Amino acid sequence: MNDTIYLDNSATTKPLKEVLQAFMVVNEQYYANPASIHAMGVEANDLLMRAREQVADILQTEAKNVLFTSGGTESNNAAIFGIARSNTHIGKHILTTEIEHPSVLETVKQLATEGFEVEYLKVDHRGIISLDELRAKIRKDTILVSMMHVNNEMGAIQPIDEAAKLIHEMSRAALHVDAVQSFGKLAVSFKGEEGPDCISISGHKIHGFKGSGVLAFRKAIRWQPYALGGGQEFGLRSGTVAVPQAVALSKAARIAVETMHDHAKKYRQWHDEILAQLNEYGEAIHILSTPQGASHIISFSVRDLKGEVIINAMQKRGVIVSTSSACSSKQTKTSHVVEALHLDEHYKKGVIRISFGAHNTAEDIKKFKQVLAEVMLELKGEIK
Ligand SMILES: Cc1ncc(COP(=O)(O)O)c(C=O)c1O
Repeated sequence: MNDTIYLDNSATTKPLKEVLQAFMVVNEQYYANPASIHAMGVEANDLLMRAREQVADILQTEAKNVLFTSGGTESNNAAIFGIARSNTHIGKHILTTEIEHPSVLETVKQLATEGFEVEYLKVDHRGIISLDELRAKIRKDTILVSMMHVNNEMGAIQPIDEAAKLIHEMSRAALHVDAVQSFGKLAVSFKGEEGPDCISISGHKIHGFKGSGVLAFRKAIRWQPYALGGGQEFGLRSGTVAVPQAVALSKAARIAVETMHDHAKKYRQWHDEILAQLNEYGEAIHILSTPQGASHIISFSVRDLKGEVIINAMQKRGVIVSTSSACSSKQTKTSHVVEALHLDEHYKKGVIRISFGAHNTAEDIKKFKQVLAEVMLELKGEIK
């Protein structure tokens, strides 16, 4: 698979060499338990603290507000359960959007069974919420708004800053932002008093490792612990901390932020070029992504064709793309994001996502465009 062109970076990314190297060194040399009081433990703990400080600096918060987790799913679960269950003295009203990742949607669904009231903000055809609807739905008893920054299936960018301002002006609710798809692609931070209150990040989406993530807060909060035991991670998440993963994640995060502008420039050009090519197919292709959306994700659908047909035809030619999300790709039902966009029936079955990463080159994109043209020609007879 050496010549394979991988364009499924929103599902997961290949770890960077520097990140693999950091992981190896920490595992080989600093393997002691960071909670141990001997010299080796102290060294491991120093590394852990540095990793935490590095992530805190990037997000503009303090190290004591950065929790290392097992990934985006755990961060989202912990944020939502934690904030909701510890603020019932203020209220039980929760707002989210209808196009969140399942790790948010399933969590709020669980809370609804526990007596919380959950309302979903709608999105328009571009996948963006309405600030007017948000304003109308915020109440005195709203305790949490959970809103993704960049949608994983089609790249819509939510107006997080404006939403944060509204939420903070109108209520005591916390804003949790799932930044799994935006961190390292767009600026993500707490921005002093005005930004989000809580941010989720996943290591494997930024050329780090699967099984690593961050849940960070603007300021210290009081919570019930969610994993009981030895009291690690400020007592919230017990369990021996995976120092190599934390160090690797902090390295991946630093590199992602340092290289963000260069990558964004390339991605934007590729995004524009591919959208222009897709537009040439007229009715045969419906483009879900917009020119204003995140530059690393393009989602489109071929009229009346199943996504797998395109994926297989591309794969035969050495190009890996995916259906709209890795989580829903093995399911036969239309994804909730595609449903929320109210796509015409003709385009619901064939949603394809391509997503760029740090290892992609201009050559990859040239090949993708050639392959797309070949595949569209081959399948011409099947497109009604
Ligand atoms: C927007 C978003 N949130 C959360 C997650 C879950 O992250 P993880 O795979 O690290 O659990 C994903 C993964 O696809 C995602 O795209």
